[in-house]
Amino acid sequence: MTALRVENLTLDIPGRRLLDNLSFELLAGTSMAIMGPSGSGKTSLINCLSGVVRPTAGRIWLNGSEITFLGTSARAAERLKNVGYVFQFGELLPELNVIENVALPLKLRGVAWSEAEARARRQLESVGLAERATERTEVLSGGEVQRVAIARAIVGQPAVILADEPTGALDDDNAGHVTKLIFSLSTQLSAGVVVGTHNQAVASQADKAFVLKSGKLEPIKLRRDAGW
Ligand SMILES: Nc1ncnc2c1ncn2[C@@H]1O[C@H](COP(=O)(O)OP(=O)(O)O)[C@@H](O)[C@H]1O
Ligand SMILES: [Mg+2]
Repeated sequence: MTALRVENLTLDIPGRRLLDNLSFELLAGTSMAIMGPSGSGKTSLINCLSGVVRPTAGRIWLNGSEITFLGTSARAAERLKNVGYVFQFGELLPELNVIENVALPLKLRGVAWSEAEARARRQLESVGLAERATERTEVLSGGEVQRVAIARAIVGQPAVILADEPTGALDDDNAGHVTKLIFSLSTQLSAGVVVGTHNQAVASQADKAFVLKSGKLEPIKLRRDAGW
Protein backbone atom coordinates (compact mmCIF):
# COMPACT_ATOMS: atom_id res chain seq x y z
CA MET A 1 0.00 0.00 0.00
CA THR A 2 1.25 3.44 -0.89
CA ALA A 3 0.81 6.01 1.87
CA LEU A 4 2.13 8.93 -0.15
CA ARG A 5 2.86 9.38 -3.83
CA VAL A 6 4.52 12.39 -5.42
CA GLU A 7 4.96 12.88 -9.15
CA ASN A 8 7.01 15.64 -10.76
CA LEU A 9 6.53 18.06 -7.88
CA THR A 10 7.89 21.53 -8.59
CA LEU A 11 7.62 24.63 -6.41
CA ASP A 12 8.75 28.03 -7.62
CA ILE A 13 9.11 31.00 -5.28
CA PRO A 14 10.07 34.47 -6.47
CA GLY A 15 13.50 34.21 -8.10
CA ARG A 16 14.10 30.55 -7.25
CA ARG A 17 13.01 26.99 -8.06
CA LEU A 18 12.76 25.56 -4.54
CA LEU A 19 11.54 22.05 -5.45
CA ASP A 20 12.57 20.72 -8.85
CA ASN A 21 10.54 17.92 -10.39
CA LEU A 22 10.51 15.54 -7.39
CA SER A 23 8.98 12.08 -7.66
CA PHE A 24 8.84 9.47 -4.92
CA GLU A 25 6.61 6.97 -3.26
CA LEU A 26 6.37 6.14 0.45
CA LEU A 27 4.93 2.76 1.35
CA ALA A 28 2.66 2.28 4.36
CA GLY A 29 4.71 1.01 7.29
CA THR A 30 7.89 2.78 6.19
CA SER A 31 9.64 6.05 6.99
CA MET A 32 11.78 8.62 5.21
CA ALA A 33 13.90 11.49 6.46
CA ILE A 34 14.47 14.69 4.51
CA MET A 35 17.69 16.41 5.45
CA GLY A 36 19.19 19.65 4.23
CA PRO A 37 20.39 22.90 5.73
CA SER A 38 18.07 25.69 6.75
CA GLY A 39 16.53 27.28 3.68
CA SER A 40 16.85 24.20 1.47
CA GLY A 41 13.07 23.78 1.26
CA LYS A 42 12.24 20.99 3.76
CA THR A 43 9.29 22.84 5.31
CA SER A 44 7.98 23.87 1.90
CA LEU A 45 8.11 20.25 0.69
CA ILE A 46 6.29 18.98 3.81
CA ASN A 47 3.70 21.73 3.41
CA CYS A 48 3.10 20.62 -0.18
CA LEU A 49 2.67 17.03 1.00
CA SER A 50 0.04 18.06 3.54
CA GLY A 51 -1.77 20.19 0.99
CA VAL A 52 -1.14 23.45 2.87
CA VAL A 53 1.00 24.81 0.03
CA ARG A 54 -0.12 24.32 -3.55
CA PRO A 55 2.86 23.37 -5.73
CA THR A 56 3.62 25.10 -9.02
CA ALA A 57 3.36 21.77 -10.84
CA GLY A 58 3.15 18.07 -10.13
CA ARG A 59 0.72 15.64 -8.52
CA ILE A 60 0.31 14.33 -4.95
CA TRP A 61 -1.70 11.40 -3.61
CA LEU A 62 -2.39 10.91 0.10
CA ASN A 63 -3.43 7.38 0.95
CA GLY A 64 -4.50 6.83 -2.66
CA SER A 65 -6.56 10.05 -2.96
CA GLU A 66 -5.20 12.70 -5.26
CA ILE A 67 -5.19 16.14 -3.62
CA THR A 68 -3.57 18.00 -6.52
CA PHE A 69 -6.64 19.58 -8.02
CA LEU A 70 -8.77 19.99 -4.92
CA GLY A 71 -9.81 23.40 -3.59
CA THR A 72 -8.62 24.69 -0.24
CA SER A 73 -11.42 23.25 1.89
CA ALA A 74 -11.43 19.85 0.17
CA ARG A 75 -7.65 19.64 0.70
CA ALA A 76 -8.17 20.53 4.36
CA ALA A 77 -10.71 17.71 4.64
CA GLU A 78 -8.26 15.22 3.10
CA ARG A 79 -5.57 16.47 5.48
CA LEU A 80 -7.83 15.96 8.48
CA LYS A 81 -8.63 12.43 7.30
CA ASN A 82 -5.17 11.27 6.21
CA VAL A 83 -2.43 13.35 7.81
CA GLY A 84 -1.04 13.62 11.31
CA TYR A 85 1.26 16.64 11.65
CA VAL A 86 3.95 17.23 14.26
CA PHE A 87 5.37 20.75 14.41
CA GLN A 88 8.80 21.86 15.64
CA PHE A 89 7.40 23.53 18.75
CA GLY A 90 4.44 21.26 19.37
CA GLU A 91 1.89 24.03 18.79
CA LEU A 92 -0.55 22.75 21.37
CA LEU A 93 -3.52 25.03 21.96
CA PRO A 94 -3.05 26.73 25.36
CA GLU A 95 -6.81 27.24 25.82
CA LEU A 96 -7.29 23.46 25.91
CA ASN A 97 -5.91 21.02 28.45
CA VAL A 98 -3.76 18.05 27.46
CA ILE A 99 -6.50 15.54 26.67
CA GLU A 100 -8.62 18.16 24.90
CA ASN A 101 -5.66 18.91 22.62
CA VAL A 102 -5.27 15.23 21.77
CA ALA A 103 -9.00 14.76 21.19
CA LEU A 104 -9.30 17.82 18.94
CA PRO A 105 -8.77 16.08 15.55
CA LEU A 106 -11.53 13.63 16.46
CA LYS A 107 -13.86 16.44 17.54
CA LEU A 108 -13.21 18.16 14.20
CA ARG A 109 -14.27 14.95 12.48
CA GLY A 110 -17.51 14.93 14.42
CA VAL A 111 -16.67 12.13 16.85
CA ALA A 112 -18.77 12.42 20.04
CA TRP A 113 -16.89 13.82 23.05
CA SER A 114 -17.09 10.67 25.19
CA GLU A 115 -15.61 8.50 22.44
CA ALA A 116 -13.05 11.15 21.47
CA GLU A 117 -11.96 11.45 25.09
CA ALA A 118 -11.63 7.67 25.51
CA ARG A 119 -9.51 7.40 22.35
CA ALA A 120 -7.42 10.42 23.35
CA ARG A 121 -6.80 8.83 26.74
CA ARG A 122 -5.57 5.61 25.13
CA GLN A 123 -3.29 7.63 22.88
CA LEU A 124 -1.90 9.54 25.86
CA GLU A 125 -1.21 6.19 27.52
CA SER A 126 0.69 5.08 24.43
CA VAL A 127 3.07 8.04 24.78
CA GLY A 128 3.35 7.58 28.56
CA LEU A 129 1.43 10.70 29.58
CA ALA A 130 -1.96 9.45 30.73
CA GLU A 131 -1.45 10.94 34.19
CA ARG A 132 -1.08 14.45 32.69
CA ALA A 133 -4.46 14.32 30.88
CA THR A 134 -6.22 17.14 32.70
CA GLU A 135 -3.26 19.47 33.10
CA ARG A 136 -2.76 22.74 31.30
CA THR A 137 -0.25 22.54 28.46
CA GLU A 138 2.05 25.27 29.82
CA VAL A 139 3.17 23.10 32.75
CA LEU A 140 4.61 20.47 30.38
CA SER A 141 8.31 20.17 29.54
CA GLY A 142 9.45 20.48 25.91
CA GLY A 143 9.71 16.71 25.55
CA GLU A 144 6.24 16.20 27.05
CA VAL A 145 4.77 18.83 24.71
CA GLN A 146 6.13 16.88 21.73
CA ARG A 147 4.77 13.58 23.07
CA VAL A 148 1.32 15.17 23.45
CA ALA A 149 1.67 16.62 19.95
CA ILE A 150 2.48 13.13 18.65
CA ALA A 151 -0.56 11.68 20.45
CA ARG A 152 -2.69 14.37 18.79
CA ALA A 153 -1.14 13.63 15.39
CA ILE A 154 -1.91 9.91 15.56
CA VAL A 155 -5.23 9.82 17.42
CA GLY A 156 -7.16 9.70 14.15
CA GLN A 157 -4.94 6.85 12.83
CA PRO A 158 -3.71 8.79 9.80
CA ALA A 159 -2.10 7.01 6.85
CA VAL A 160 0.60 9.69 6.65
CA ILE A 161 2.53 11.29 9.51
CA LEU A 162 4.50 14.45 8.73
CA ALA A 163 6.96 15.88 11.25
CA ASP A 164 8.86 19.10 10.57
CA GLU A 165 11.99 19.41 12.77
CA PRO A 166 10.17 17.58 15.58
CA THR A 167 13.26 17.55 17.80
CA GLY A 168 14.49 21.04 16.91
CA ALA A 169 13.51 22.45 20.30
CA LEU A 170 14.60 19.49 22.46
CA ASP A 171 17.73 18.53 24.38
CA ASP A 172 19.57 15.40 23.28
CA ASP A 173 17.86 12.93 25.64
CA ASN A 174 14.37 14.09 24.76
CA ALA A 175 15.27 14.29 21.08
CA GLY A 176 16.26 10.62 21.20
CA HIS A 177 13.04 9.63 22.94
CA VAL A 178 10.81 11.59 20.55
CA THR A 179 12.74 10.35 17.49
CA LYS A 180 12.29 6.71 18.52
CA LEU A 181 8.60 7.31 19.16
CA ILE A 182 8.00 8.97 15.79
CA PHE A 183 9.80 6.32 13.75
CA SER A 184 8.08 3.51 15.68
CA LEU A 185 4.75 4.83 14.35
CA SER A 186 5.38 3.58 10.82
CA THR A 187 5.16 -0.07 11.80
CA GLN A 188 2.83 0.46 14.77
CA LEU A 189 0.18 2.26 12.72
CA SER A 190 1.16 1.00 9.26
CA ALA A 191 1.60 4.65 8.35
CA GLY A 192 4.04 6.42 6.05
CA VAL A 193 6.25 8.67 8.18
CA VAL A 194 8.10 11.70 6.78
CA VAL A 195 10.49 13.61 9.03
CA GLY A 196 12.19 16.85 8.01
CA THR A 197 15.34 17.43 10.03
CA HIS A 198 18.80 18.92 9.76
CA ASN A 199 19.99 16.43 12.42
CA GLN A 200 21.86 13.36 11.13
CA ALA A 201 21.22 11.39 14.30
CA VAL A 202 17.46 11.82 13.74
CA ALA A 203 17.63 11.05 10.01
CA SER A 204 19.69 7.91 10.62
CA GLN A 205 16.68 6.28 12.31
CA ALA A 206 14.52 6.47 9.16
CA ASP A 207 14.19 3.55 6.73
CA LYS A 208 15.45 5.86 3.96
CA ALA A 209 17.17 9.22 4.14
CA PHE A 210 17.48 11.95 1.51
CA VAL A 211 19.15 15.33 1.25
CA LEU A 212 17.24 18.15 -0.40
CA LYS A 213 19.83 19.86 -2.58
CA SER A 214 19.14 22.40 -5.34
CA GLY A 215 15.52 21.32 -5.28
CA LYS A 216 16.29 17.60 -5.78
CA LEU A 217 16.11 14.71 -3.31
CA GLU A 218 19.38 12.77 -3.21
CA PRO A 219 19.42 9.45 -1.35
CA ILE A 220 22.07 9.24 1.37
CA LYS A 221 23.32 6.33 3.45
CA LEU A 222 23.48 6.96 7.19
CA ARG A 223 24.65 4.50 9.81
CA ARG A 224 21.79 3.71 12.13
CA ASP A 225 24.14 3.43 15.09
CA ALA A 226 25.02 7.10 14.50
CA GLY A 227 21.72 7.87 16.24
CA TRP A 228 20.26 6.83 19.56
N1 LIG B 1 5.85 31.44 -0.46
C1 LIG B 1 7.11 31.84 -0.37
N2 LIG B 1 7.49 33.04 -0.86
C2 LIG B 1 8.78 33.43 -0.78
N3 LIG B 1 9.76 32.70 -0.23
C3 LIG B 1 9.45 31.51 0.27
C4 LIG B 1 8.11 31.01 0.23
N4 LIG B 1 8.10 29.77 0.79
C5 LIG B 1 9.39 29.53 1.18
N5 LIG B 1 10.18 30.54 0.86
C6 LIG B 1 11.65 30.61 1.07
O1 LIG B 1 12.19 29.38 0.63
C7 LIG B 1 13.33 29.03 1.39
C8 LIG B 1 13.18 27.63 1.91
O2 LIG B 1 12.32 27.65 3.04
P1 LIG B 1 11.90 26.39 3.88
O3 LIG B 1 11.01 25.52 3.07
O4 LIG B 1 11.35 26.93 5.14
O5 LIG B 1 13.29 25.63 4.11
P2 LIG B 1 13.80 24.78 5.35
O6 LIG B 1 12.61 24.21 6.04
O7 LIG B 1 14.67 23.72 4.72
O8 LIG B 1 14.58 25.68 6.21
C9 LIG B 1 13.47 30.10 2.46
O9 LIG B 1 14.43 31.02 2.02
C10 LIG B 1 12.09 30.72 2.51
O10 LIG B 1 12.13 32.03 2.94
MG1 LIG C 1 12.01 24.28 8.00
